[in-house]
Amino acid sequence: MRTAFKLSTLLIFPALVVISLVIFYPRASKAINNSEECLNCHVSKGITASAIRDWKLSKHFEAGVACADCHIPVKEAVKEIHESKSNCEDKRVRRLVSPRNCAQCHEDKVNEFERGKHALAWVAMMAMPTTKDQPSVLIEGEKGCGGCHRIGRDEGKCDACHTRHRFSTIEARKPEACMTCHMGFDHPQWEMWSTSKHGTIYFTEGKNWDFSKPLKDWYKEPYKADPSTPRAPVCQTCHMPNGDHGVKTAWGFLALRVAEKDPEWAKLRNTIMRGLGVLDEKGNFTERVKIVEAGKVVRLTAEEWQAERDRMLKVCSQCHSPSYAKEQLDKADEVIKESDKLMAEAIEIVESLYKDGIIERPKDYPLHTDLLRFYEVRHPIEQKLYVMFLEHRMRSFQGAFHMNPDYQHWYGWAEMKRDLAEIKHEAEMLRKQFAQAKQKKK
Ligand code: HEC
Ligand code: HEC
Ligand code: HEC
Ligand code: HEC
Ligand code: HEC
Ligand code: HEC
Ligand code: HEC
Ligand code: HEC
Repeated sequence: MRTAFKLSTLLIFPALVVISLVIFYPRASKAINNSEECLNCHVSKGITASAIRDWKLSKHFEAGVACADCHIPVKEAVKEIHESKSNCEDKRVRRLVSPRNCAQCHEDKVNEFERGKHALAWVAMMAMPTTKDQPSVLIEGEKGCGGCHRIGRDEGKCDACHTRHRFSTIEARKPEACMTCHMGFDHPQWEMWSTSKHGTIYFTEGKNWDFSKPLKDWYKEPYKADPSTPRAPVCQTCHMPNGDHGVKTAWGFLALRVAEKDPEWAKLRNTIMRGLGVLDEKGNFTERVKIVEAGKVVRLTAEEWQAERDRMLKVCSQCHSPSYAKEQLDKADEVIKESDKLMAEAIEIVESLYKDGIIERPKDYPLHTDLLRFYEVRHPIEQKLYVMFLEHRMRSFQGAFHMNPDYQHWYGWAEMKRDLAEIKHEAEMLRKQFAQAKQKKK
């Protein structure tokens, strides 16, 4: 019995080696064969070592995907790629890679990505009135705004989460994959999540979790207790359920929806939309609405909003009771409304300074204030208004949605209160100065 067992294992082992050689060797060598020209020259010149090393460690190498499969653009690639520069001696090669090349083999993922907001990142950034005022090195050169918004450039940069040339799904499933862009001033999701209870559990137990499992399999057997299944959600659990690349939330970045049933809130919303130059004083859309539509910056229908909310509730309900989850999200909605009250009041104060001629309206402003200009505004009171809108209002509601009371309260809400007090004070001083100057003239 014992010898028979040993004999069979002894036989199985070499058999496995032979089988795996038969299966893998031709493919790996196919990848090398197809890349031979590229590799020979690159290696002889001692260049692009990390590309070659990482590619050799990737699933692509195992599967026989060659350098040329990605670096020689297919004809469907955008003209920016076809016309882009490359320092390679092979003139068919481009440094930039199109998602159309990936689509040859991963059409489903490319289609999902296209439905989501990441695909619009470049368009939305370019549409901002502030963008034309930035040095091109920050936009086209990707050192500032462009460095993050490149995720949507040339129809999409697929290496944003699974970096080249490993293209590892394990890397992409970890929340660190999102942090370079989703941090800081106006969208500190990394900081909010990582210090929330959800994040805390990841940092204490995450090293034992199995990130090689596809997202759709994490809670496939919902009552099976297994310490390698994540007990707390990471960014991807909530925002890429089942691995869906089409990221999109109900409220979005600016937390503005057009179809609003609550009349009190609708009024506040209109004031904010006026501050963005999207509505005029009569409540009609301005030319600006085209920007908003192109980048899907604002949710235009109630259905669009509800579909995303329902999807999120399903995610929370994999772990929490559905009513607990719903209450949490409802309360975060209420935080938006409370924050909008402060925001609308501040916008109205600054608007009134324009109306009364106390501060002069630049000719190219759509109305009185222009929040889509970000920091490209002249007056200190407008600078304050911009910070209140883009930093503090954001943190107030984003903190509520990411279970982070500190960001919600001290970095968000409390700062909005301070901004409002300072804006009020500054407006009073400006009015006084204006009245005094008028008196002198008389
Ligand atoms: C005869 C030599 C040679 C061959 C063949 C060759 N390359 Fe290159 N490649 C170079 C050199 C030289 C560079 C430039 C390095 C630099 O200046 O940064 C380069 C650069 C590149 C770059 C980066 C381009 C840039 O502008 O940064 C890519 C991508 C590339 N090669 C891919 C390929 C692929 C794919 C193949 C095979 C289809 C290939 N190369 C074949 C010599 C070669
Ligand atoms: C699965 C697709 C894929 C394969 C296969 C692939 N690359 Fe790339 N490579 C990319 C992507 C994506 C980028 C980033 C392009 C962009 O910014 O649009 C890139 C960028 C590069 C760059 C420029 C950036 C840098 O870091 O220097 C070089 C050089 C390069 N690849 C070389 C190679 C070589 C050599 C091979 C073969 C050993 C190879 N690549 C195989 C997808 C691929
Ligand atoms: C010529 C076909 C081909 C092209 C082109 C291609 N891939 Fe792949 N890709 C594959 C194959 C085959 C696998 C392995 C599938 C498997 O193991 O299940 C794979 C696997 C992957 C994986 C999963 C790796 C892992 O760790 O599980 C990612 C991510 C990926 N590809 C991204 C890309 C991206 C991004 C591009 C374009 C820049 C691209 N691929 C281009 C064929 C291709
Ligand atoms: C290279 C930078 C970058 C990386 C990495 C990145 N994102 Fe984004 N993300 C953006 C930008 C820029 C936008 C805004 C795009 C737009 O709406 O025009 C965005 C938008 C989003 C949105 C949509 C919000 C809305 O408007 O509804 C979600 C959700 C999101 N990202 C989640 C993630 C997750 C999860 C990860 C990691 C797995 C991630 N992102 C990685 C840059 C990035
Ligand atoms: C650190 C990376 C980063 C930088 C730098 C950056 N952004 Fe963003 N931007 C993002 C992310 C991430 C989002 C999505 C955040 C969210 O939904 O909470 C976003 C969202 C946006 C949106 C909203 C898109 C939408 O449809 O909802 C616009 C517009 C925008 N950014 C423009 C700019 C401009 C203009 C600049 C430079 C002045 C800039 N961004 C700089 C990462 C960045
Ligand atoms: C926002 C981050 C992010 C971006 C950008 C991104 N991916 Fe992914 N990708 C992921 C995550 C997370 C997974 C793991 C999904 C899962 O577990 O089902 C993944 C998995 C994959 C896989 C393996 C799918 C499978 O079922 O094994 C492929 C292929 C892939 N991505 C291709 C792409 C392509 C092509 C693009 C560009 C159009 C892209 N990805 C852009 C995060 C991203
Ligand atoms: C527990 C689930 C959960 C996790 C984990 C999570 N988010 Fe969110 N996220 C939400 C909810 C809920 C919203 C608001 C959705 C809505 O509009 O209804 C949201 C909104 C967003 C938005 C839109 C702007 C905002 O903040 O309201 C972005 C971008 C985003 N999350 C990125 C991330 C990133 C990046 C991570 C990881 C660092 C992350 N999220 C972790 C649940 C989560
Ligand atoms: C993978 C399971 C999982 C998912 C998905 C999940 N949570 Fe949690 N959540 C947890 C665990 C575990 C805790 C820690 C319980 C505790 O505080 O004792 C927690 C804690 C919380 C807390 C309490 C935070 C605190 O500081 O006490 C809130 C609120 C919360 N989750 C809301 C949500 C919402 C809303 C969603 C969906 C957007 C969600 N969760 C998705 C597992 C999950």
